[in-house]
Amino acid sequence: MPKLLTPAQIEAYRRHGYLVPIRVMSEDEALALRRTLEAVEAGMGGPLRGDIRHKAHLLFPFLAELVRHPAILDAIEDLLGPDLLCWNSNFFIKEAETPSFVSWHQDSTYWGLSAPDVATAWVALTPSNLDNGAMAVIPGSHRTDQIPHRDTFDRDNLLTRGQEIAVEVDEAEAVPLILRPGEMSLHHVRLVHGSPPNPSGDRRIGFAIRYIPTTLRQLEGEDSATLVRGTDRFHHFELEPRPDVDMPPEMLALHRRLTERSARILYRGTGVDSYNDPRAMRG
Ligand code: NI
Repeated sequence: MPKLLTPAQIEAYRRHGYLVPIRVMSEDEALALRRTLEAVEAGMGGPLRGDIRHKAHLLFPFLAELVRHPAILDAIEDLLGPDLLCWNSNFFIKEAETPSFVSWHQDSTYWGLSAPDVATAWVALTPSNLDNGAMAVIPGSHRTDQIPHRDTFDRDNLLTRGQEIAVEVDEAEAVPLILRPGEMSLHHVRLVHGSPPNPSGDRRIGFAIRYIPTTLRQLEGEDSATLVRGTDRFHHFELEPRPDVDMPPEMLALHRRLTERSARILYRGTGVDSYNDPRAMRG
């Protein structure tokens, strides 16, 4: 028996490569998470930059709890099985009236993972809609193989390399994923997706959580992940501890080491070896 999704939803994910919307928490709870994030940002003197955008669940208890949210994990278990790792998390924040965008891409392009059994839970902390740059997807595109991409390093592109699909995408097929605060979308690692800028008067905040079954391997070197449900019988990833206070010094050091290692995987071949490299500090 599925834990959260209906059999029809599971079939729709297999067929179309995404599901939307799925309520994870109330709008008030999502607003509280936004306030917590914004208190962190105020303490840091501005929006999250560089490596702090990535694997922030290793630094802040409210995000450590979010990547383990039972409703998210129930849905992911319905798609990927009972033994689950959180491989990564990334903030996608588009400030009000800014040109930041995400080019058309497949997530699988530079991730180095051994199989396309990867699902992203994209959790909205604000509305995400046609007014503020919601993500759009090409339904069914996850059933294609890996498509060639080219790196642009466009300064307004929120992706690591500014990578974009090297062939024409038929935008007439695109479907926007409209979310209220506290809802999530789910998408497959090969689904073609992207998003336009946010011309609205408020910021648009999404937290993308990348889940894999424990069977997967990293093919490009040593890597780490957080066991969020079940048992890890494979030990393919160094397992990450959980922070109990904001930015404990030992977790800051660990986070720096682990994100530098994953940056070297994601940027391999480009000469960039850290999220804090100027070429990585875009968006
Ligand atoms: Ni993506």
